[in-house]
Amino acid sequence: MDIEKIMKELTLAEKASLVSGNSSWTVGPIERAGVPEIFVSDGPYGLRKQESDTAEIYDSIDAVAFPTSAATASSFDKDLMYEIGTALGKECQAENVAVILGPGINIKRSPLCGRNFEYISEDPYVAGEMSAALINGVQSQDIGTSLKHFAANSQETERMYASSDMDERTLREIYLAGYETAVKKSNPWTLMCSYNRINGTYASENKWLLTDVLRDEWGYDGLVMSDWGAVSDRIKGIAAGLDLEMPGSGGVNDARIVEAVETGKLDEADLDKAVRNVLNLMEKYHSKKREEVFDRDKDHEIAVHAEEESIVLLKNEDVLPIKAEEKIAIIGGFAENPRFQGGGSSHINAHNIVSAVSVADSFGSFTYTEGFPYDGDQMSDEMKNQAVEAAKNADKVVVFAGLPDSYECEGYDRSHMRLPECQNILIDELLKLSKPVIIVLHNGSPVEMPWADYVDGIVEAYLGGEGVGEAVMKVLYGKVNPSGKLAESFPKKVEDNPSYLSYLGQNHRCNYSEGIFVGYRYYDTKKMDVLFPFGFGLSYTTFDYSNLKVSVGGSAVSGAVDINADKITVSVDITNTGNMAGKEIVQLYISDKTKAAIRPVHELKGFEKIALNPGETGTVSFELDKRSFAWFNEAISDWYAAGGEYVIEIGKSSRDIVLTETIEVKGDAPVLPVIDMDVQIGDLLKNDITKNVVLRVMKEEIQKFSGSDGLEVTDMDPMTYAMLQYLPIRTLRSFTHMTNERVESIVAALKEEVEKVSR
Ligand code: BGC
Repeated sequence: MDIEKIMKELTLAEKASLVSGNSSWTVGPIERAGVPEIFVSDGPYGLRKQESDTAEIYDSIDAVAFPTSAATASSFDKDLMYEIGTALGKECQAENVAVILGPGINIKRSPLCGRNFEYISEDPYVAGEMSAALINGVQSQDIGTSLKHFAANSQETERMYASSDMDERTLREIYLAGYETAVKKSNPWTLMCSYNRINGTYASENKWLLTDVLRDEWGYDGLVMSDWGAVSDRIKGIAAGLDLEMPGSGGVNDARIVEAVETGKLDEADLDKAVRNVLNLMEKYHSKKREEVFDRDKDHEIAVHAEEESIVLLKNEDVLPIKAEEKIAIIGGFAENPRFQGGGSSHINAHNIVSAVSVADSFGSFTYTEGFPYDGDQMSDEMKNQAVEAAKNADKVVVFAGLPDSYECEGYDRSHMRLPECQNILIDELLKLSKPVIIVLHNGSPVEMPWADYVDGIVEAYLGGEGVGEAVMKVLYGKVNPSGKLAESFPKKVEDNPSYLSYLGQNHRCNYSEGIFVGYRYYDTKKMDVLFPFGFGLSYTTFDYSNLKVSVGGSAVSGAVDINADKITVSVDITNTGNMAGKEIVQLYISDKTKAAIRPVHELKGFEKIALNPGETGTVSFELDKRSFAWFNEAISDWYAAGGEYVIEIGKSSRDIVLTETIEVKGDAPVLPVIDMDVQIGDLLKNDITKNVVLRVMKEEIQKFSGSDGLEVTDMDPMTYAMLQYLPIRTLRSFTHMTNERVESIVAALKEEVEKVSR
């Protein structure tokens, strides 16, 4: 494609028509000018290709449902994400799909968000790293992705209207950081802006978001499309950097664009930018288009394997793995009809759904009783009694529980965090039998578990894709050693969640009042009890951590590390001390001790998964850079790491830190206070530049009035010193003998010093 030639040939009306969908899923063609068509499809964890424009949402091609992102996030396995991405990319090549609409990485602010199953984590580092790996996998097949929903779309209620309101630090550190990582590490061909407003401005019209941050700061050069129907004012959108409206507007916005250019309301150069981005996307796809086969059976195996790597063992009181000779009673409708995906635009017409019951024969001796239904909250006495009878005759009871489809879905949020009551009732009945009870969960986000202390085993399968039944049985019987860990915290009850008091907002404004304290950043800082912490998961083997080393350029750290110049390498040895081969997810957190800012007690800055045979020791290592230590400092509109002490923590979960090392960091230059008559003396004493001026002046004053030149400010008694800290400098003329002229001259001297360093 000769893009510049096409640009010259296109009429204004044709350009306007190219920046929106031609149908629900297509863009282009304009044959006259040599512009081809491209086709896009959901996403994110399977192909929802709709062959007809008028098809119902669940009417899509036969495809493979991989585990949802909530599940695969728990694998903490970037190679696995790449592998799934590669499979999706191949499927797209085979099905003539140019862009798969995903991954979605909105932050799990509350367990109640109806769409959490589609998202990766409460932690932006995990969301960024895992999505980048998936994107790189898809794009290795010359197929595009659409990283969505950009940004701050952490609820479904009023998702197309409400405003997510927060300070810039919270946006940058929590709600944008994952996108920044993915953009920089994987350069997704497209991004999809979200429906909601951010601080009052629709994401689809938000120039700060779509141009200043995304393109100018992060260097993004791909295409930005709207979420489906997210455009309110198309003209503002084009000027803000929204290239493509999806789907179309029935021609309404095409006409408005033409009129806006003709009347000078829209700069044609802005429209041209958008058109070029559309043409570039077409070129990327068509120039490498090739024949591929959608091998559903092969991809099904990848889906099973992905779930095996993702299942999280949450509790095991010597009850798992089950031995082949043990008689088990399988109870619960989810064993026959597993819930393996969520509802809405990600819904796959699954190729081969494997239930636990359908494969149980090949594992051992079992009975199956429905007990409670998979799709509601009705359990008859007869169902309950049958389940109890079945359990009486078994050595172990395995309950397949979970959230019915209607409980969590795109388009609305959950109103509570509970399982259907009938499930809890039956579990209580079964516990009365004093038999070992194991619960297998099928849910897209955390649930309350009133029985957690009493059951013997808990297996979190999440919404585990079409092969979930097989993967779960392999874990239950120890054919697979579970190795997933939670990429989100499980609070004991929904009221414990930091967003609880303000979630969903009022008057269409959602105040993200907990700020940066999302998920474990809140629970850990508050030292609150949680049901299961972030990063937690058990194995059938055990791991020992030792030999933590922190080095720069190959030598152990000594003295202050200049994080603006040096890369820090952290390594730790992990030994499998049990009897079974297994995998461990090793986590690195950093705890800022400088007190330069309000920060969570620690933040995740690295994770690695390592496979080890019994007795084997392996080493995992991490690289840390300035960003590992930094927070977003609004005073300078930039990432900032203060000099001082930081603790590097190596943990099995956010609550199980096993090794630490404290390092001294030479950080960024101190941020100097704004100098005026109101500046507080304490702020002036916080950095050497202004501190030296203050000390000089005070020494002069002390000398003047006491006649002594031996006294220092630091000799001051702590009470006087404490009070001095919070005095605006102007108060010196009231509380000391200083004249106004003297204070003004000190302020002038301070300004001069500050200007010198900023020059
Ligand atoms: C969803 C997107 C999806 C799009 C197309 C929207 O409602 O929010 O995630 O990609 O529809 O189906």
